[in-house]
Amino acid sequence: MLTRRRVSAPAVRPPACLAVLWVAAVLMAPAWAGTEVDSIAAPPGVRPGDAANGRAIVVDRQRALCLLCHSGPFPEAGQQGSLAPSLAGAGQRWNAGQLRLRITDGRRLKPDSIMPSYGVIDPAPQVARRYRGQAILSPQQIEDVVAFLSTLRD
Ligand code: HEC
Repeated sequence: MLTRRRVSAPAVRPPACLAVLWVAAVLMAPAWAGTEVDSIAAPPGVRPGDAANGRAIVVDRQRALCLLCHSGPFPEAGQQGSLAPSLAGAGQRWNAGQLRLRITDGRRLKPDSIMPSYGVIDPAPQVARRYRGQAILSPQQIEDVVAFLSTLRD
């Protein structure tokens, strides 16, 4: 018959740094798995989004150009795009973290997307000189757009 042996205090205790490594491994697992990441947190220093400003950014035809591809509940905006899903109900389909990732860097989810990664600096030489070295939208502007899209519930 097997008797259970009492194991007294292990001679070699795992050093505390192993615990730290484990926590890091658990936290990093989605990133290592590649496609598992579906949402991102707001970067430090960003204020809660201003939905009214976010709406102004979405309908602006000079910079973000969302309505080149998307349509949505924007009666004043005239011609709207049909290359992408309507933004109506976006806040129902996606939570803030998911919207933030899709606007900041949708190409992380779909590398061949035609939608620009608004929060990523594009090193391409064809980027107009005045826009080089900067993302299309700042983290704060993205936060405002996220706040606005979150209000689109149907
Ligand atoms: C050049 C075209 C284009 C532009 C400009 C564009 N998008 Fe998109 N967007 C797409 C396409 C296409 C998809 C569908 C997913 C894919 O193929 O990448 C998409 C997906 C999305 C989604 C997820 C849609 C859903 O509900 O399934 C959101 C949210 C979104 N875009 C928001 C925006 C916002 C906000 C802007 C402007 C800041 C913008 N997009 C600009 C093409 C565009």
